[in-house]
Amino acid sequence: MNLIVAVSLDYAIGKDNKLLFRLPTDMAFFKEKTMGKTVVMGEKTYLSLPKRPLLNRINIVLSDNPNFVADGAIVVHTLDDLFKELKKYRSKEIFVCGGASIYNLLMNYCDTAYVTKVEKIVDADTYINDIEEHGFVLKEVSPQIEENNLTFTFQTYQNPNPIRF
Ligand SMILES: NC(=O)c1ccc[n+]([C@@H]2O[C@H](COP(=O)([O-])OP(=O)(O)OC[C@H]3O[C@@H](n4cnc5c(N)ncnc54)[C@H](OP(=O)(O)O)[C@@H]3O)[C@@H](O)[C@H]2O)c1
Repeated sequence: MNLIVAVSLDYAIGKDNKLLFRLPTDMAFFKEKTMGKTVVMGEKTYLSLPKRPLLNRINIVLSDNPNFVADGAIVVHTLDDLFKELKKYRSKEIFVCGGASIYNLLMNYCDTAYVTKVEKIVDADTYINDIEEHGFVLKEVSPQIEENNLTFTFQTYQNPNPIRF
């Protein structure tokens, strides 16, 4: 299973249930990585999508609310149910795509993390854990990209010891 996220220097990922950065190149990267695959997200992230569900992907949404219905998505209510559902898909084709509660819940189960690192600290209200503190090792860094007055890199991390589910 993979994780894909865009973070600031201090691992901020959102504010007011929105993304922090508008980066077309990152959006294209997200699309390229996840297209045709299975994406896992929390209820808040699902509701924050401008168009729901993410097209041409199997959308799985985690929600505590037993009455929550998500058009075009599979809703699961517990980690056990999520893992039962995920067993239907090939692990490397699964992408955890937010938000913070879901990244933090599932990062130890992920083999690879695709982290878009934006070289900036911005006002935010939602942060993820430092993935290096969870044992992820940096394997690849792209050249720096400049867009919308921001500098960022695509970083690929591997988890040498993911928990199998
Ligand atoms: N930078 C990025 O790459 C990126 C990517 C995605 C999202 N984001 C940002 O992240 C922010 C949202 O993150 P968030 O942490 O507030 O929300 P979230 O993770 O998207 O969703 C949280 C919800 O997921 C459900 N949930 C979480 N853990 C669960 C569990 N163990 N069992 C059942 N349901 C569970 C709960 O639903 P109930 O409410 O039903 O209890 C919870 O309220 C937004 O600002 C969004 O824009 C950023």
